[in-house]
Amino acid sequence: MSRIAGVDQRPASERTPVRRTARAAALVLLVLTTSTGCTGGVEGSPGAAGLRDPYFPKLGNGGYDVTHYDLVLDVDPAAHRLSGTATITARATQDLSAFNLDLDGLTVRSATVEGRPAAVNRAGHELTLRPDAGVADRLRKGRTFRTVVRYSGSPKTITDPDGSKEGWLRTADGSVALGEPTGSMAWFPGNNHPSDKASYDIAVTVPAGLTAVSNGEPASRRGSGTTTTFRWHVPEPMASYLATVAIGRFDTKSSTTADGIEVFTAADTTVAKDSARILARVPEVVKWEVERFGPYPFSATGAIVERHGDAGYALETQNRPVFAGPPDAGLLVHEMAHQWFGDSVTPESWRDMWLNEGLATYAEWLWEADKEGVPIQDLFDAAFEDDDNWAFPPADPPTAADISQAPVYGRGAMVVHKVRQAVDDDRRFFALVRGWTKAHRHGNATTADFTAYVEKATGKDLTELWDTWLYGRSRPAPKD
Ligand code: TRP
Ligand code: ZN
Repeated sequence: MSRIAGVDQRPASERTPVRRTARAAALVLLVLTTSTGCTGGVEGSPGAAGLRDPYFPKLGNGGYDVTHYDLVLDVDPAAHRLSGTATITARATQDLSAFNLDLDGLTVRSATVEGRPAAVNRAGHELTLRPDAGVADRLRKGRTFRTVVRYSGSPKTITDPDGSKEGWLRTADGSVALGEPTGSMAWFPGNNHPSDKASYDIAVTVPAGLTAVSNGEPASRRGSGTTTTFRWHVPEPMASYLATVAIGRFDTKSSTTADGIEVFTAADTTVAKDSARILARVPEVVKWEVERFGPYPFSATGAIVERHGDAGYALETQNRPVFAGPPDAGLLVHEMAHQWFGDSVTPESWRDMWLNEGLATYAEWLWEADKEGVPIQDLFDAAFEDDDNWAFPPADPPTAADISQAPVYGRGAMVVHKVRQAVDDDRRFFALVRGWTKAHRHGNATTADFTAYVEKATGKDLTELWDTWLYGRSRPAPKD
């Protein structure tokens, strides 16, 4: 929904959930060689070059689990230059002779593993590091090791299978990084798949006068005269697609909620006045969602209002969603709901996307029902009547170009409503939702986890519900 709804003031029920539709671009599966060659006496085997995601098989890498990213970036938006040092702390999940990181574009200046120079090979967005034989035992299964990659260049904008833009985007006065589903590798090397979450420290140095806003807690801001360095700290696990940096001229505001959550909002100065009213409602929306979805999962919240005309959609970047212009309340509710559904409980693969969008869309329905008195059944019925929602089953988008299409949002929300009807008690339904966000807090979940969880919580066999609403290819007769 939100991908095109950034400045759309229509009610959620009338907004089209479909991203700017592109030509039916087929997903070309490039067979990328990793060229690990001889292992130079290092025992173990190379980590896999991809995690076999059903839609993006080469995203992510096997053989290790990242626990922390420390990113130090120097950005000159006018020159479109970025230079960075990524220090990646990871735990080996096998004895590793070599391993991959994902990085799309940019030039690698140097790489070390455990302080010793590593051989670097690049093929497509696969970066293969072969550690020095002297550190082999530090890469044994279960050990934690540290990789440092220095890189620089002109970060690129990535075009998705559906034609929309992500990665590193230029704005009128700076840039913004958007990473769903693949774009984080345009600005830092990593294990670029939602299944490998990690904490982050992000430091961004920009020319004096500009502000760099990122995820998490604002940690410090230091000026040198010609530059300013902004540090951001993300203590909770974050998927790489949720990392962001927005650079430009911003009006910023910070406060703390009654529950002690840090609120930091930033609005591009040209839209700051128009954004003030809605941004002031962030704590109210968080509180309203806490009552329904459970404790807020993070130590910080907020929002970033940008003007990224190139993409034009909103994204639920962790702690602080990015909007393409002043959002309406429904869109704010949607992106903020993703903090629970997507950011804290993260899809295991891109096939589980409806767990994000279905629940975030349902949050909009709940808001409309609560604030505007629209019967939620009317919203369900409107979604039911919409042919777009029946293009394919939400739990099985046909191609990578479809993961943000109508069924994932609208029919995803219909699945949630059907669960509510099956529970047949609002108090128990919201307890079930809160139980779900608690069970997978700061983790990952699959569609199978969801259906098993709901069946256990309700004590009901809901095979028919899943077969019809989640996996069914055709619209059932009304009032089914
Ligand atoms: N997740 C965004 C939202 O609904 C929309 C979006 C942006 C998206 N990029 C995407 C959805 C890539 C799927 C794939 O708030
Ligand atoms: Zn969404």
